[in-house]
Amino acid sequence: MSNRTAVITVTGNKGGGGKSTIATQLAAGTAMRALSTVLIDVDPQGSAAEWGSGFEDDDLIVQPADAPTAARVIETARTGGADIVVVDTGAKSDAVVQTSLEASTLNLIVARPSRFDIKGIAASVEIARKAGVIDRTWVLLNACPHYGQRPAEAEAAVQELYGLPCCPVRVDRSEDFEHAANNSVHVSRVNRKGQAAADMSELTDWVLKTIKKGRG
Ligand SMILES: Nc1ncnc2c1ncn2[C@@H]1O[C@H](COP(=O)(O)OP(=O)(O)OP(=O)(O)O)[C@@H](O)[C@H]1O
Ligand SMILES: [Mg+2]
Repeated sequence: MSNRTAVITVTGNKGGGGKSTIATQLAAGTAMRALSTVLIDVDPQGSAAEWGSGFEDDDLIVQPADAPTAARVIETARTGGADIVVVDTGAKSDAVVQTSLEASTLNLIVARPSRFDIKGIAASVEIARKAGVIDRTWVLLNACPHYGQRPAEAEAAVQELYGLPCCPVRVDRSEDFEHAANNSVHVSRVNRKGQAAADMSELTDWVLKTIKKGRG
């Protein structure tokens, strides 16, 4: 792709918002587009690392890391010539999240589209400010209902509470994600024509475009 490695950090201090789902699916998506991808799991729960150990694609490497090693593991991916690094973080906004953010090209704060969940990501917004990456931060609304006003209301709440933009691509609620997680595959392998596959394809396009041009 380019001679510069893009580091995409997936954050969200609200547990279960969908960080590991989005991180693994994004990494799978870029690897399937023949971009050399390193998925780094800095969450001690190890969900992404476990998923990645079963994902079969030569363009994806999976690496666990922790606070003392995260910066070095990201740097090694960079010097090794990776096109894309995706970092899956835990729900705690701790030192390893800050270290990962400091090395990031783009930060996605994953949140479900409810008022509680949007209020719940305040610590993630704060740590993005502290790490100096707020101008590279978007909130990604995940597990959205296909119909109704909730996502639009959530987007307004993100703007009102944090002055942050939401990613223009929203990810709908779909069981395909659970199957993809259980079987270490990309959602398109679960249901090629499903909404989840379409959403991830659109999100991957948007991420690749945005790492090139920034918020503009
Ligand atoms: N878009 C979606 N549609 C339906 N289910 C989803 C979606 N995104 C995530 N899930 C489900 O929600 C649960 C939590 O997702 P996930 O583990 O990705 O969250 P997380 O933010 O990584 O959690 P943690 O804070 O524990 O690391 C999982 O069962 C996952 O399959
Ligand atoms: Mg997780």
